[in-house]
Amino acid sequence: MTAALKQLAAQLPKAELHIHIEGSLEPGMMLELARRNGIKLPYADINDIINAYNFNCLQDFLDLYYQGMSVLQTEQDFHDLTWAYLLRCHQQNVVHCEIFFDPQGHTERGIAFEIFMNGICSALNKAEKELAITSKLIMCFLRHLDEQSALSTLQAAEPYLDLLTGIGLDSSELGHPPRSFCKVFARAAELGLKRVAHAGEEGPPEYVYEALDLLRVDRIDHGNRSLEDTVLVQRLVTARMSLTVCPQSNLRLAVVKDMSDHPIRKMLDLGLNACINSDDPAYFGGYMNENFDAVIDATGLTRDHIFQLVSNSFKSSFLTQTEIQTHLDHIDAMR
Ligand code: ADE
Ligand code: ZN
Repeated sequence: MTAALKQLAAQLPKAELHIHIEGSLEPGMMLELARRNGIKLPYADINDIINAYNFNCLQDFLDLYYQGMSVLQTEQDFHDLTWAYLLRCHQQNVVHCEIFFDPQGHTERGIAFEIFMNGICSALNKAEKELAITSKLIMCFLRHLDEQSALSTLQAAEPYLDLLTGIGLDSSELGHPPRSFCKVFARAAELGLKRVAHAGEEGPPEYVYEALDLLRVDRIDHGNRSLEDTVLVQRLVTARMSLTVCPQSNLRLAVVKDMSDHPIRKMLDLGLNACINSDDPAYFGGYMNENFDAVIDATGLTRDHIFQLVSNSFKSSFLTQTEIQTHLDHIDAMR
């Protein structure tokens, strides 16, 4: 039974809306780029890296994530990273992706905007031509840095606005509430950019309210802790607000104790518009289909839930209504 559901999930076309491209840096590529660029890492081999991926919380992961991205130096590095992710999408029937990147994680190390923009975008263009995968780019601000740094980053991105669909907010959530980023989100809205924010991953429901009311977001990334507040849940349901949920990330970062505690099924049954995503697949043990497999094994999802999740992924995307309907028609034809 679960084997049939996993096969269904694998075969259905899907959109991925919550993937940090730097979090798709596999240990093998990390070592290869470190060698290529003469960067010293505190690991002798792949096993050392995998053994280090033992996280008790979001910050444990972020420390290694920022260290890992230090190997990304050239346009070719960003291209190779992005292309490797897109090949995984192709293997897993992910036909549309909305990719996060962390410019401040690169500019702070002296890497120019044009290096990562050219590298990422050349891979996205190649994937559209060769793999028929469509994509959007979402530039995230690191919330452990101040709003002035985010405003300067948005200004530095102005020459690349045509390549950006939206902005996001990520990194250390606790102690860095959405309300600290009102100005930069308002400026992004003036520029015609979509807005998303990580909220309610480790942070309280209050942060989800702030993302909605103060940042005026189009989607909430994670949103798990919304479930602690029934008034908030009702509001999210009524607004059809999208939650980009990341099961393996939640397990590895101790947002849930066990995958059987994961709330994805409960979210759907409450009427929330949730979809499945990989977050940082190279760090958390899997891409889109491995995330489906994990929740199918642990949470008793039904065939209807699988269809709901993949439909939600397109409905929550920043594609046009016509494009979304085309994908939904393909999904319906597989019912
Ligand atoms: N950056 C990369 N992955 C993240 C996550 N899960 N939460 C916050 N910031 C991140
Ligand atoms: Zn994330």
